[in-house]
Amino acid sequence: MINVAVNGYGTIGKRVADAVVQQPDMKLIGVSKTRPNHEAKTAVGKKYPLYVIKESKKSFTDAGIEFEGTVEEMLDGADVVVDATPSGVGVRNYELYKGMGIPTIVQGGEAKDSVESSFNARANFENSIGKNLVRVVSCNSTGLARLLTPIEETFGIDQVRVTLIRRGADPGQPGKGPINDVILDPVYLPSHHGPDVKSVLPNINIDTLALKVPTTLMHVHVVNITLKKDTSKEDMCKLLSGESRIHMVAAEEGIKGIAGLKELALDLGRPRGDLWENCVWDESVSVKDEEVYLFQAIHQEADVVPENIDAIRAIVNECGQGESMSLTDKTMGMGMGR
Ligand SMILES: NC(=O)c1ccc[n+]([C@@H]2O[C@H](COP(=O)([O-])OP(=O)(O)OC[C@H]3O[C@@H](n4cnc5c(N)ncnc54)[C@H](OP(=O)(O)O)[C@@H]3O)[C@@H](O)[C@H]2O)c1
Repeated sequence: MINVAVNGYGTIGKRVADAVVQQPDMKLIGVSKTRPNHEAKTAVGKKYPLYVIKESKKSFTDAGIEFEGTVEEMLDGADVVVDATPSGVGVRNYELYKGMGIPTIVQGGEAKDSVESSFNARANFENSIGKNLVRVVSCNSTGLARLLTPIEETFGIDQVRVTLIRRGADPGQPGKGPINDVILDPVYLPSHHGPDVKSVLPNINIDTLALKVPTTLMHVHVVNITLKKDTSKEDMCKLLSGESRIHMVAAEEGIKGIAGLKELALDLGRPRGDLWENCVWDESVSVKDEEVYLFQAIHQEADVVPENIDAIRAIVNECGQGESMSLTDKTMGMGMGR
């Protein structure tokens, strides 16, 4: 049994904690909060052992929220820590984890050069086996790595060009809105997203550009790939449908945008309406000789969650890529009923 501590119980951390609890080979030994807000109360309601940073003990006591101890005490029993604190905090926290000899997984907000390896289960699971500090790449890079890996394996890739239409904020970030704009983020081209994808797929030529739009729901990627071998739409769709973490949005579903996808997830009873899979519109896949175009949607709050579970197994060398991904897919319920 792998004892897992989750430091930072926000958008990503609370989802990772729920996924850890579903794993037969893992035990959630604690989650941490700095503020005594509704998420702290929910964690207690779920009977997750709650820990707090030393400086926050009084505020939790004043709020009447019971906690087990401090973050340091939580870490005492951990085989692995998943750090899901805000960007930049994770690598700073690593000094503490390293001092206690605890293998650490941080998130995509940390700089790629600050870790031993960057992780995507489909692209490079093996690179993180037995490492001390592993970074699960960002939601956008996760979505692109899942898409590009099978395409590179099957057809070879000459060049990838992606326009990322990014959600302006997460639903839990009212401070970033309301907004009425389309922001070039960044204004310069290409954006940093391409180099981030290369942290898990170093041999892919990829250029990206990115815009932020006023939605909290999902990101959309407009993808153009030049292949090394020509193919057909049918073969491309068949390849992508065979990937457990890609959902092909069929024409008969009648879904033309991200609100429809979220509705589908809620109708399926997905926790928090989460879509762990890339959603690729079947109708959008256009192939002319070596040129491929498609649209995919990425649920920024959800797609990295199964990746964190696989990263836990990789870092402690529990099992290989195929076994880990299958177990994660099965326990989380990947696949939208297909
Ligand atoms: N949200 C996304 O779309 C997304 C997608 C992929 C990857 N990521 C990455 O995942 C990481 C976490 O992002 P997030 O969106 O989950 O952030 P978030 O919602 O702001 O959650 C961060 C959590 O960390 C806690 N925290 C803050 N400072 C802390 C400290 N010094 N020590 C311990 N805990 C602390 C916060 O606690 P309190 O709330 O109690 O203050 C909160 O529970 C970032 O690297 C981000 O780039 C985010």
